[in-house]
Amino acid sequence: MTRPRSGPGGESPSGRDSLHLFVDRVRDYAIYLLDPRGIVTSWNAGALRFKGYTADEIIGQHFSRFYTEEDRATGVPARALAIAERDGVFEAEGWRVRKDGERFWASVVIDPIRDDDGTLVGFAKITRDITERREAQRSLDEARAQLHQAQKMEAVGQLTGGFAHDFNNILQIIGNNIELATRGLASGRADIGRHLAGASDAVRRGTQLTGRLLAFARKQPLEPARVDIRHLVEGMRDLLEQSLGDGIELEVRLPPKLWPTWIDAGQFENALLNLAVNARDAMPDGGRLTISATNQSVDEDDRQPGTRVGDHVCLTVADTGTGMPPEVAARAFEPFFTTKAPGHGTGLGLAQIYGFIGQSGGTVRIESEPGRGTTIVFCLPRHPEG
Ligand SMILES: Nc1ncnc2c1ncn2[C@@H]1O[C@H](COP(=O)(O)OP(=O)(O)O)[C@@H](O)[C@H]1O
Ligand SMILES: [Mg+2]
Repeated sequence: MTRPRSGPGGESPSGRDSLHLFVDRVRDYAIYLLDPRGIVTSWNAGALRFKGYTADEIIGQHFSRFYTEEDRATGVPARALAIAERDGVFEAEGWRVRKDGERFWASVVIDPIRDDDGTLVGFAKITRDITERREAQRSLDEARAQLHQAQKMEAVGQLTGGFAHDFNNILQIIGNNIELATRGLASGRADIGRHLAGASDAVRRGTQLTGRLLAFARKQPLEPARVDIRHLVEGMRDLLEQSLGDGIELEVRLPPKLWPTWIDAGQFENALLNLAVNARDAMPDGGRLTISATNQSVDEDDRQPGTRVGDHVCLTVADTGTGMPPEVAARAFEPFFTTKAPGHGTGLGLAQIYGFIGQSGGTVRIESEPGRGTTIVFCLPRHPEG
């Protein structure tokens, strides 16, 4: 490598000389000049390091030799110069080739150089080898994609396993009852009615199960209508109080001027009831459940993640129970996700609500912290003529 010399005769270098010195010595960037046709006219230490050519080998050669054969064949180098000349700069990333034939991923900037009259006298080219950075980014992207895939498979596994398990139980009950009824018939017994009733009951549970899954998948038939939330919640007060039990106080705070909503009333009642049951389970020692609501207008500019543009009536259902740790809150909407003992939770309550509200054009989210209770916020679309 030729070492750049300091100013002639050991004098302190002028500004221009020290700039040359600096450019010559930079090793992390290839910095070199081209004439207007693309012939290399200067070369620095970084260029030697990345591209492998010494100044003697490369000065006087056309810069297109740093490009891949494909790029040369399709005229990429000439286009880069033309763009730099036209736009005042050319910036890109792409494969370049070292002297030994190895490829590296380069970040390239080309600036046109003009004299005082504006005539193009050449180009300044700055290239950086960012292969490592690109590789690091790629491994990160790959790891993320793998994690995402693994999480997805786990969720699908959970769903399939949960459904298979519950559905199997139901089939078994139906099968047993039919067998008992058949035997009863064969032996001429009169009490086969209760076996048939047992089978019918299991069929009903099976239908309920698939119904909840359809709700989660946003594929249940809905019958939206104009619904006054205040009216609906007031009408459910007794039922909600019954479900909550003695130790839990119900507080309903609904403003008089709520917009009418456009929602399936039956499903919505179901959802509220589910939330009340969840709240009861989270408050074994008693507490309070508060239902409140506001009108909310969201436009494109102030849309937050998880909200939808438009007019909505937003309800909050807040309990003073155990709350959820973040890992539970993150999965609470998943079908069959439950922290309750077998037989106490289906893990389908919130999944059903999530699907139903989404299918209705609304949103639902959880705000919860262990020891600080749980608030479920859901926004329902305003009735188009309300
Ligand atoms: N109000 C609440 N307070 C604390 N945890 C809750 C509440 N609601 C739901 N959860 C958590 O979310 C899980 C899923 O709820 P859900 O889908 O209704 O299924 P399930 O009630 O059958 O367990 C519950 O098992 C519980 O861990
Ligand atoms: Mg539940």
